[in-house]
Amino acid sequence: MSGIVGYIGRHSAQSILLDCLKKLDYRGYDSAGIAVSDLKKIDIRREKGRVEDLEASLQLEPIRPGCLGIGHTRWASHGTPTVSNSHPLSDEEGRFYVVHNGIIENYQQLKKFLISEGHHFQTDTDTEVIPHLLAHFDTGNFEETVRKVIPQLKGAFALALMSTAHPNQIIAVSYDNPLIIGFGQGEAYLSSDIPALLPYTKETYPIKNGEIAILTQTNVEVKTLAGEKIVPEKVTIRWNHDELSLQTYEHFMLKEITEQPEAIKRTLKGRLIESGVAIPEVEAFLEERKLSRFEKITIVGSGTSHHSGMIGKKILETMLDIPVEAAISSEFSFEHGHLNDQQLVIALSQSGETADTISALKEAKKYGAPTIAITNYRKSTLARKSDCLVYTHAGPELAVPATKAYTAQITALILLSIVLTEKTNGPGRKMVPVLLDALHSLADDVEKCLIMTQDAIDQFAQVTNDQEHLFLIGRGLDYVLALEGALKLQEVAYLHADAYAAGEMKHGTMALITPGIPVIALATQQHLRDKAINNIKEIKARDAYVVGITTTGDDEVSAVVDEVLYIPEAHPFLMPILAAIPLQLLAYYAGKVRGYNVDRPRNLAKSLTVE
Ligand code: G6P
Repeated sequence: MSGIVGYIGRHSAQSILLDCLKKLDYRGYDSAGIAVSDLKKIDIRREKGRVEDLEASLQLEPIRPGCLGIGHTRWASHGTPTVSNSHPLSDEEGRFYVVHNGIIENYQQLKKFLISEGHHFQTDTDTEVIPHLLAHFDTGNFEETVRKVIPQLKGAFALALMSTAHPNQIIAVSYDNPLIIGFGQGEAYLSSDIPALLPYTKETYPIKNGEIAILTQTNVEVKTLAGEKIVPEKVTIRWNHDELSLQTYEHFMLKEITEQPEAIKRTLKGRLIESGVAIPEVEAFLEERKLSRFEKITIVGSGTSHHSGMIGKKILETMLDIPVEAAISSEFSFEHGHLNDQQLVIALSQSGETADTISALKEAKKYGAPTIAITNYRKSTLARKSDCLVYTHAGPELAVPATKAYTAQITALILLSIVLTEKTNGPGRKMVPVLLDALHSLADDVEKCLIMTQDAIDQFAQVTNDQEHLFLIGRGLDYVLALEGALKLQEVAYLHADAYAAGEMKHGTMALITPGIPVIALATQQHLRDKAINNIKEIKARDAYVVGITTTGDDEVSAVVDEVLYIPEAHPFLMPILAAIPLQLLAYYAGKVRGYNVDRPRNLAKSLTVE
């Protein structure tokens, strides 16, 4: 995915576009570019690398100043991250300029058609068909031309467009891909996401599917593709600027790890009440759809959200005693089994914009399955398309590696599992009082975890500096946690970290255990502890260097490992939240000691709006 911005007003467009792009670079940082107009002519600049590289190039060799423009920061999907593949892209005569986020699925057919009509292509991108189509179908009226071209595009996309013949306008389009208008005093902004807008305005309008916005110096008009005017219902952003700044932290990742007690408190607030759990939106949805039981539940998600889904699977299965599956979104869309309107599909996504998860949700809806989205963005595509939204209050997460979004998702899943258990009279009802007690102290336990593990983890991370391989093992929920710990270490520290169900090591992977190799052994699930200890001993017998993560005072685990990290003991369902803390910290410090950009790992982006 990529980030799109736009500005029209009285100030220097270049500096505003660059500032906005820097705030969106978690969406991609392979290349960046801007197109700026002084109301007469459009000038563009593109650079490989981050927005800072573009800024340096503009300082060295400025472009013509102007008061309107569009910008892009790219995560390469079609075509390598080169200057020529960078946005804004134009047709060969430079009549139209386009910045694009998403994917044009039918670009090959369109390209073939355009080539047969004499167009010449310069890039490997899917985007390039758009300026060519605009040039091909140009009626002389910018808005009319856009309306002719958009219906020809298939896929999910957001676009900001400029025309050399109309250098005083920007046209924006959103189709299953976010693009938000920000309203200022005599000026307007465009952005793929809220963080870029926040320093300038809190009055916004997320463009809806099939709408186009025409931005001029004096006006912002929103219309349907058919040309019918729409009065945009403005949304006031609730986030504050502090939430989006580093404050005293060196990196967003550490800030967001540290913010977890607050994020969890916010996610529980108003829902964890004296008499139990209340999620009115879920209750209303169940009543409206007359859902009193389900044949099956499937939880879909990608990356870290898939791992929270795996945790949710184990919790829901125990509480409801029905089959629950955790599916990888990109697989579910094409490989799901039987689906019907008696099966609930829960879609998990921090951003609510991950294309794979949106496709999975659409697929579920095709079969009439009722759907619940758990996301951190109220106005996201997933939130809009699902039947019911459970909002996580993690607050803005700006580091690419997910941390507080993960623990907030698990918290929301536990709340949801309690509501579903009560509403469907699941066998887990008897567990609810104990679980409620544990939820009341969850935020404090997370706080304790941060205090108990931070220094020790920092030291252990130094040890990983000269390692290339690391294993994580665990049983049950600890195994899922091991998967998430491994993902974090891969993303942030570029370590070849692999997670295994502790009992599986002896069936093959044990051959890779050599003296001194670091192994993190999770033993937080009391009912599986003895078996986990046996597996740790098997690995120790091969001279691995084992760091155990277990609950305070567990001397039996500490006796068999080289180093032990204690975390507070809580309800088994909550241990994946607590034990995530040292693993997140390990990834952070390991990435830092190895000299990597922990907030912006190579080749990744915060949420991927392409399948
Ligand atoms: C990207 C991010 C991951 C994230 C995944 C799903 O791959 O790099 O950190 O877990 O997307 O994102 P979502 O917003 O759907 O939770």
